[in-house]
Amino acid sequence: MDSDVKAQENQGPKSHEQLIEELKEKRKEIRAGGGPKRIEAQHSKGKMTARERLNLLLDEGTFEEILPFMTHRHSDFGMDKKRHPGDAVVTGFGKINGRMVCIASQDFTILGGSFGEVQGQKVAKAMDLALEAGVPFIAINDSGGARIQEGVYSLGAYAEVFWRNTQASGVIPQLSVILGPCAGGAVYSPGLTDFIFMADQTSHMFITGPQVIKTVTGEEVDFETLGGAAAHSSRSGVAHFVGANEEATLQLVRKLLDYLPANNAEPAPAIPPADDPWRMDPELNTIVPTDPNAGYDMKVIIHKLFDLGSFFEVHQNFAQNAIVGFARLHGQVVGVVAQQPMVMAGVIDIDASDKIARFVRFCDAFNIPIITLADTPGFMPGVMQEHGGIIRHGAKIIYAYSEATVPKITVNIRKGYGGAYIVMGSKYLRADIVYAWPTTEIAVMGAEGAVNILYGKQLKNAENPEEERARLVQEYRDKFSTPYTSAAAGYVDDILIPEETRPRLIAALELLKNKQATLPPKKHGNIPL
Ligand code: HXC
Repeated sequence: MDSDVKAQENQGPKSHEQLIEELKEKRKEIRAGGGPKRIEAQHSKGKMTARERLNLLLDEGTFEEILPFMTHRHSDFGMDKKRHPGDAVVTGFGKINGRMVCIASQDFTILGGSFGEVQGQKVAKAMDLALEAGVPFIAINDSGGARIQEGVYSLGAYAEVFWRNTQASGVIPQLSVILGPCAGGAVYSPGLTDFIFMADQTSHMFITGPQVIKTVTGEEVDFETLGGAAAHSSRSGVAHFVGANEEATLQLVRKLLDYLPANNAEPAPAIPPADDPWRMDPELNTIVPTDPNAGYDMKVIIHKLFDLGSFFEVHQNFAQNAIVGFARLHGQVVGVVAQQPMVMAGVIDIDASDKIARFVRFCDAFNIPIITLADTPGFMPGVMQEHGGIIRHGAKIIYAYSEATVPKITVNIRKGYGGAYIVMGSKYLRADIVYAWPTTEIAVMGAEGAVNILYGKQLKNAENPEEERARLVQEYRDKFSTPYTSAAAGYVDDILIPEETRPRLIAALELLKNKQATLPPKKHGNIPL
């Protein structure tokens, strides 16, 4: 008999104290992550550890860890000497502002947070729990990607997560928080989730990095320019929220969750109304210039209409000609979709189409009524837009509004020309209630363009073409550049004095609280992607 075993036998069974002590030691080891040196290296990059992030994100003392002892069983490439209980991710559940979430937080201090078979199994378990329990799932990403030493086991583990992301889509909110590298195919789990958060300067997302790009296309680009928070929040639209640092980013996650239901069977969380439902701000009456070419800031209107301080913008830096975000009306959560006339006159281009359509679909999936404030001169002209597929992108907005069965209330603020009028939550797409302000102009196109087409020849032969043009433009404007034609046709339910809008929206929302609408039976539609 081996002498060690003999010695243990002589000692007899371990006492309860010893067993508990042993467990405490193991816990300590697990919680120490990759150790002080690697934690220091992490801090020196302006990054927190996986557990520090959980401490900040979750309500104090609510985190319950699961699978902390899971350890990989691979041996190739010296992996038998690189085992750490819990592997490179911390998983579990906890509360955010009193509401439960499931969570996975990658630990860069262990093997660079690399995603191996066990990490995949741990994340999958947290996702399964989230789906079964009907609570949001949050992934905090900080990883070198697929664990190279585990080869196809690592790829399979990723794929299992992608599959779960897709199954959970539209059932529970899924949030990705990028707080370090997220490269290669690893980006597709965040890419499948509802919202992506990034921390400025310390997070990067890309399919192929600067080196590969240089080899393949010859382009020279650095990490930040290629896939930093600024690039993804303003250019690609991949990221919805950016925090100045990790702490600010995690606070944004907490804030967003306050607007979201836990799952698609629940209403969004209402709060006791704190603002006067009858608040009528007379400044609204004059905020839209009567000169159709003068701009104004739609965000001022949004702040005045919704509960004070409640507007939480999504995609703030992307496609700024459109505005989307969550707000509250008399305590109820709503999704706000609007144009921003200050940016490109509020025209709808490819990016704005994607931004609006995706947001409308999220709201519809999660029982959030949609309030649309429409003011657009139309779709963006140009070869780039046409060849970029504005037809199929713009169609997404029509599709999203048409299939949305949540309460839909639209206020036409000013311009509604052509197809763009139809797509912005019009009656035809089954908006429940459509209002218009007196400044509304609904027509096939703007007066100047219409006159050129209708009276081109007449103007050429006119004695004083400019005078004649001005007269015809005014005539067209008087006829079509008012909301009264649309109201007479029944396309607009009422014309509002702008200051009345807040109480009228609250009343409409109350009416539609229990709205029931269904779509024709189908497996799923075929939204033009
Ligand atoms: C195994 C990895 C790893 C990986 C990093 N590490 N990435 N181990 N698999 N993918 C290890 C490093 O070897 C190192 O271990 C430790 O993590 C810390 O990494 P450093 O390089 O020292 O850190 P840093 O300088 O901050 O650089 C971080 C990094 C770099 C930029 C992420 O590590 C890197 O380029 N990693 C590889 C990225 C990559 O190409 N991944 C595959 C992407 S493709 P030691 O022990 O030496 O400290 C992919 C496909 C997914 O993910 C497909 C899904 C379908």
